[in-house]
Amino acid sequence: MSKRRKEPQNRLTGKAAKADKYALYQDAVQCPEAEIEFFDRAYRENYASEPKILREDFCGAGAVSCQWVKTGDTRKAYGIDLDPEPLAWGMAHNVSTLSTEQRERLKFIEGNVLSAKSPKADVLAAQNFSFFIFKTREEVVDYFRKAHANIAAKGVMVIDMFGGSESYLEDHLERRKYDGFKYVWEQARFDPVTHHCTFYIHFTFKDGSKLDKAFRYDWRLWSIPEVREMLAEAGFSRSDVYWEGTDDDGEGNGEYELVESAPSDPAWVAYIVGVK
Ligand SMILES: C[S@@+](CC[C@H](N)C(=O)[O-])C[C@H]1O[C@@H](n2cnc3c(N)ncnc32)[C@H](O)[C@@H]1O
Repeated sequence: MSKRRKEPQNRLTGKAAKADKYALYQDAVQCPEAEIEFFDRAYRENYASEPKILREDFCGAGAVSCQWVKTGDTRKAYGIDLDPEPLAWGMAHNVSTLSTEQRERLKFIEGNVLSAKSPKADVLAAQNFSFFIFKTREEVVDYFRKAHANIAAKGVMVIDMFGGSESYLEDHLERRKYDGFKYVWEQARFDPVTHHCTFYIHFTFKDGSKLDKAFRYDWRLWSIPEVREMLAEAGFSRSDVYWEGTDDDGEGNGEYELVESAPSDPAWVAYIVGVK
């Protein structure tokens, strides 16, 4: 009888072993320039002026905050995240690209968005569906109330959402190709009773190696009308929905239009702007 050696769990090989999950995430998921273009538009459409102070809730590695301070000499950004790991990565890889003067206008805060203090923001942003972490109405309204208090008298809260019939599927994969790797979004679980859901981001490489479950999200899939009702309950005077357009293949084109109603797209993305 021979004894088999126990294989270490999740051992990474090949390109996956050398990969940096935060760098891959930033390449595949984020476009800070486009986010800021939208924040500026949402602010300008409400107050006909330029926003100066950004509070980036759930900032992760703070790519958007770093871009913010690059886009205006008087702009200040406050990035807030609970997790020290992406913040440290952001310091090493994003903040390090800023000039000394730009760094002075940026602050990362390791803390909870529900309690972290910052100067009142012109734009309070919570991107990549981050508020879906709050699973009850009470929790979301509490967060929106605190966000409302963290915004200046002339201020907006910008959040993004996704949904549509495809987001109710289980074991559903979406793949996108990037330079040197593939990004895979997995919808692993959707519970129609609670709307609780689990998603993963995986990365795969040409040599067959994988960074499996690089990121995991346990969320509640909220609907747009629920969110607008909660924004109103939290004190926002109005909320607007900006719907992403589609190209000829039916894929999102990154262009957003203010809408009152929208087609039943099986996989939609929208910005919701709460106006103070
Ligand atoms: C989906 S990621 C979004 C990262 C980034 N905003 C983006 O657009 O890619 C959510 C982030 O929220 C952070 N987070 C979760 N709950 C939080 C809380 N209560 N307060 C602060 N950060 C939180 C996590 O650590 C994680 O970095």
